[in-house]
Amino acid sequence: MKEEKIKKGSQIGPAKGRLGVLIPGLGGAVSTTFITGMEAVRKNGASPIGSLAQMGTIRLGKRTEKRIPKIKDFINLADLDDLAFYGWDIYEDNCYEAALKAGVLERDHIEGVRPLLEGIKPQKAVFKKEYVRNLEGHHVKSEHDYPELIEALKTDIENFKKENRIDRCVMIWCGSTETYLKASEVHQTIKKFENGLERNDPNISPSMLYAYAAITSGIPYINGAPNLTVDIPAMVDLADKYEVPIAGKDFKTGQTLMKTIVSPGLKARLLGLNGWYSTNILGNRDGMVLDDPGSFKTKEESKLSVLEHILQPDIYPTLYNHFYHKVTINYYPPRGDNKEGWDCIDIFGWLGYPMQIKINFLCRDSILAAPLVLDLVLFADFAQRAGMSGIQEWLSFYFKSPMYAEGLYPEHDLFIQLAKLKNTLRYLMEEEQITHLGIEYYVK
Ligand SMILES: NC(=O)c1ccc[n+]([C@@H]2O[C@H](COP(=O)([O-])OP(=O)(O)OC[C@H]3O[C@@H](n4cnc5c(N)ncnc54)[C@H](O)[C@@H]3O)[C@@H](O)[C@H]2O)c1
Repeated sequence: MKEEKIKKGSQIGPAKGRLGVLIPGLGGAVSTTFITGMEAVRKNGASPIGSLAQMGTIRLGKRTEKRIPKIKDFINLADLDDLAFYGWDIYEDNCYEAALKAGVLERDHIEGVRPLLEGIKPQKAVFKKEYVRNLEGHHVKSEHDYPELIEALKTDIENFKKENRIDRCVMIWCGSTETYLKASEVHQTIKKFENGLERNDPNISPSMLYAYAAITSGIPYINGAPNLTVDIPAMVDLADKYEVPIAGKDFKTGQTLMKTIVSPGLKARLLGLNGWYSTNILGNRDGMVLDDPGSFKTKEESKLSVLEHILQPDIYPTLYNHFYHKVTINYYPPRGDNKEGWDCIDIFGWLGYPMQIKINFLCRDSILAAPLVLDLVLFADFAQRAGMSGIQEWLSFYFKSPMYAEGLYPEHDLFIQLAKLKNTLRYLMEEEQITHLGIEYYVK
């Protein structure tokens, strides 16, 4: 991203017209919970609970100034009424049928917005079973070669834009977790990647085809899964070339959210850690996909890196050099989307005396994820209008495994991430950065 391209304050493009929200995985639990909730907010006056963009505030200037607007009043975000939903899935259920099957929301909530949901039907997906072994779907594009599949996706997007008078779009991946892929040669440069597309290189997964179609159409791409997708040099370069924002990976909800809330507190108080054992039961389709070792490995990598980065064992060897970190996910159908997670945390304090913390989080996965989808769509669109291209590190707040520039390490601490997000908004709106020094209130 070039600094001279960044627009600030009144230079930031207006949020006029309709914003298309393009969702691979349209029929999934996260996607249908998000869309149903959006309609309940727009039509029935529900509160967008959990959305920083809608409900959060930002302090500006000194505490004595008492300027604390809502974020949505501080920056020009798209109006919720201007959002239009579109997407792809390997199952052909419309969003009404898919929301009922997902089993997250009560029937009343879904019936209340039924006409809108029935009108949103997935397009045929770009799907290859090798990448998501536990799914079997037939609502899939017939083209075989990668360049043709990309063209088919681009045609879908163009048709949607034309038919619905859409001005701008954001693509957000709410599709399944793909099998584990490591960055390899084909992912290193745009040229190598494009050559790989020509020969249907197996290191290029379906999610990368969606991302390529989006980026080369000038559409920001957000990765809600732990898939490698845009976390490769070729895609980062592509995003810079087409001047679009990208962000990922893996929505930060549930156990990892708790981890990034609790562990910064332990470190702040210099309490040591011997071990952190996390396990959970989950019975939705995501749980079924993650029951495959390939998809689980992708998820495991994403979940495991968090503590290492927050606790910095190299800087605090006495406290964190030898902690044992284990994460397991168990597919248990009776619980559906209502995940139950257990964390057993073995810590130590003064003179090494051991203590224990237990967290038993009975969460609802998609209820936690839906507001993140909303915020990411709104902020990615805002970033695009502000000329912020490439990796959007300021959106790390939303991800388990945030993307970061070469030579850096990722910032996982939720509170640092929040400060980074708000300071980015202050920077873009030409407001003073808040350092929390506070001495100015005492120096006479
Ligand atoms: N709290 C959360 O729910 C949460 C948190 C972090 C990450 N995630 C990730 O978000 C994603 C969605 O989660 P979910 O609970 O909605 O899962 P889900 O299984 O209910 O939905 C995923 C949908 O993607 C579809 N799909 C799979 N491959 C596709 C393809 N190539 N093209 C189009 N559609 C495709 C599936 O058919 C399914 O309908 C998963 O990758 C999950 O790991 C979810």
